[in-house]
Amino acid sequence: MNRTVRLCVNGTPLALNVPVRTTLADCLRHGAGLTGTHLGCEHGVCGACTVIVDGDAVRSCLMLAIQAEGSSVTTVEGLAPADALSPLQAAFRKHHALQCGFCTPGILTTAHAFLTQEPDADRERIREMLSGNLCRCTGYIPIVEAIYEARAAYRRGTKGDKS
Ligand code: FES
Ligand code: FES
Repeated sequence: MNRTVRLCVNGTPLALNVPVRTTLADCLRHGAGLTGTHLGCEHGVCGACTVIVDGDAVRSCLMLAIQAEGSSVTTVEGLAPADALSPLQAAFRKHHALQCGFCTPGILTTAHAFLTQEPDADRERIREMLSGNLCRCTGYIPIVEAIYEARAAYRRGTKGDKS
C-alpha cells in the first residue's frame, strides 16, 4: 500500500508517493534524490543517516517516512547555500575532520542541530554529543575541534542553512 507523504525538505515542499513501510532515509534518498544522507548500519547505531526533523537530530533509518508527514526536514544538502560551505563545513575542511566522508553527513547534521541549541557547548559536551556517531577513519579530535570552532557562527546566527 502506498501513501503520499508531504514534507518540507531543505525549504522546498515535496509530495512523495511511497510504500507505507518506507523509511525516511529511503524516501529522502530514492524519492527526493537526496543521496547525501548515508545508510550504514540501518538499525540506529552508526548515526550516518541523521537528518534534522523539526529541529531535532533524527536517525532516518529508524523513522518511517509517513511519521514525518507535515514536518520540516533538513538534510546535509540543506546545511549550506548553493556553491558555498556553511561555517560548520568550512571548519571541517580547515581541521581535516573527514577522510572517506561516509560518516560526515550524519555528523554535520547532528552537530548542526546541537550547535543551534547549544552554541556555548564545551569540548566535553561536544564529545558527549558525538558519542552516537561512528567514524571509522578520521579520529575524533579534528571533528571536535571543527565543531568547537564553528560555535561562533551559531552564536552570531550565521550558521548558513536553508531551513
Ligand atoms: S544507518 Fe541509521 S543509524 Fe546507522
Ligand atoms: S571519515 Fe570515514 S568514516 Fe568518518
